[in-house]
Amino acid sequence: MQNFENFLLKHLPTSQSIHPTYEQALHKMLKAGGKRFRPELLLGVVNAYNPLLRDAAMHAAYAIELLHTYSLIHDDLPAMDNSPLRRGEPTLHISFDEVTAILVGDALNTYSFEVLSEAPFSDYTRVKLIHELAKNGGLNGMVLGQAIDCYFENRPLSVEDIKTLHTNKTAKLIAASLKMGAIIVGKEELGEKLYDFGIKLGVLFQIQDDILDVTQSSQEAGKLTNNDEDKNSFVTVLGLEASLQEANLFAEELLKEMAGFDEGLQEELSSLLVKYINRHK
Ligand code: IPE
Ligand code: IPE
Ligand code: MG
Ligand code: MG
Ligand code: MG
Repeated sequence: MQNFENFLLKHLPTSQSIHPTYEQALHKMLKAGGKRFRPELLLGVVNAYNPLLRDAAMHAAYAIELLHTYSLIHDDLPAMDNSPLRRGEPTLHISFDEVTAILVGDALNTYSFEVLSEAPFSDYTRVKLIHELAKNGGLNGMVLGQAIDCYFENRPLSVEDIKTLHTNKTAKLIAASLKMGAIIVGKEELGEKLYDFGIKLGVLFQIQDDILDVTQSSQEAGKLTNNDEDKNSFVTVLGLEASLQEANLFAEELLKEMAGFDEGLQEELSSLLVKYINRHK
């Protein structure tokens, strides 16, 4: 992902103003790293079907990472999960202040669409990509998931409802990452198939995140762990053992589905997918 990191550093949001720390705050969480899972998914699909579009696809991969990073900054706010640590760094409301964290989140959210709107694709592709990111990252996607997540703190949900919560807050953006790769290479039917796969992958990703919240230290995770007690996480509702079993079932199903991908796509994505599909083990 060296290329992606270079791209990100070259395209960091800039702002010359009298504000002494605004730009530094805009950059801090982007530069702090993270797994870059969503960009890797998008770029993997593009590489499998049309590697010549890889450089152009960087813009879209970056747009997803911008929106994802905004979601993390807001997720950590005192009004939401109240977390002091993210990507191994103090969160923005700790290093700067709460107003800065709120506004940097807002800025990265809209900047992601600015980046997409300027990406070197046809107008048709650009609109499709903007639509996909907005639809999955916005009011009936990640934002809805976060609203449910926070509203139902200390109000237990059924396992089915938690799956819906996880689908919205996490899986839709992961599914969109795969689908946006397919849109870039002009394979819209494949995009639908990958979207469905991505929803399952994303629900598993959040179940694993719930598991890691109780099995990893904050230092290992680079974020505050043991922080889900009031939440409807898989572990708080089902317990650790049953959550691990549920994750195993998802993993098995996903590995089977992956075997049905085109050979080139398997070649491109299987090591990444196998690594993440098994990360709770
Ligand atoms: C964290 O996402 C939030 C969830 C949706 C579970 P990641 O685990 O992908 O966070 P980074 O990008 O690696 O920091
Ligand atoms: C957050 O889920 C998902 C987002 C949309 C950011 P969590 O609250 O479990 O994510 P972490 O554990 O803080 O990364
Ligand atoms: Mg949260
Ligand atoms: Mg959180
Ligand atoms: Mg979590």
